[in-house]
Amino acid sequence: MPLVTSTEMFKKAYEGGYAIGAFNVNNMEIVQGITEAAKEENAPLILQVSAGARKYAKHTYLVHLVQAALEDTDLPIVLHLDHGADFDICKSCIDGGFTSVMIDGSHHSFKDNIELTKRVVDYAHNKGVVVEGELGQLAGIEDDVNVSAANASYTQPDQVEEFVKSTGVDSLAIAIGTSHGAFKFKPGQKPLLRFDILKEVEKRLPNFPIVLHGASSVIPKYVEIINKNGGNLADAIGIPEDMLREAAKSAVCKINIDSDLRLALTAGIREHLNAHPEHFDPRQYLTPARANIKELVKHKLVHVLGCNGKA
Ligand code: G3H
Ligand code: 13P
Ligand code: ZN
Repeated sequence: MPLVTSTEMFKKAYEGGYAIGAFNVNNMEIVQGITEAAKEENAPLILQVSAGARKYAKHTYLVHLVQAALEDTDLPIVLHLDHGADFDICKSCIDGGFTSVMIDGSHHSFKDNIELTKRVVDYAHNKGVVVEGELGQLAGIEDDVNVSAANASYTQPDQVEEFVKSTGVDSLAIAIGTSHGAFKFKPGQKPLLRFDILKEVEKRLPNFPIVLHGASSVIPKYVEIINKNGGNLADAIGIPEDMLREAAKSAVCKINIDSDLRLALTAGIREHLNAHPEHFDPRQYLTPARANIKELVKHKLVHVLGCNGKA
């Protein structure tokens, strides 16, 4: 099966009350762990690539890895640009085989965000590619954007209709309290997501797919393994899974997960090398690391997103 766009996937997810997992990929083991899990669970997938991933692995290697995964699994897979910072990176991915791009204009003024997003939408739609826009700013660090908690801001529901209408975007990422990375809340702080904002957005945008970024749960099991085996990730805190399950049942059709993959992979490597300090063949320590990714993704598909059996 060739790569697909997210249009059909989101329609089914919206109607079915589940969400599609959007997993960040940076190398072969991550692609394989994710896609093997999805194959066993018969789940649709979004594989997303950041500017940092393109810099690390090169665009062409990532496109071909995803192509290999398509041949191997025959699943519906979307190849998506995560956090496209400007028109040029979106154009390069649209021209370079991606079926979906995000233009992240959330740090611009409302007017400039609309202008930039519309420019990308016009170019993308002409080539059959779908576009995710963003309103509201999440705290955390991505390669190109570093938003401090103080500067993060929730999405304003009274802006969403105008944004979607004026830009023509196919989905909208909103800020309701999630954030990027492994340190989402301060120790002792009660995790809070603004479901009231999500409801307001849903009311104003009927049947429209919403996206949640920064949605890793920072699964304690992997953090503990890392900390027990020479790492130090004290105070890592993620989004509780019951909140994500609730979101998946709503208009949220895409849930972005990267940090959990990083933690699972790193836990596998640290645990293996601590138990076998004599090993230096990457296949020895990347085999359990890849198995961790597969186990984690199966858990997400079945117990958090609810998209198992929906391919
Ligand atoms: O939202 C950001 C993603 O986790 C990608 O992170 O820019 O370090 O590849 P990255
Ligand atoms: P996490 O850091 O919570 O995994 O978020 C990933 C993300 O939003 C990618 O765009
Ligand atoms: Zn993100």
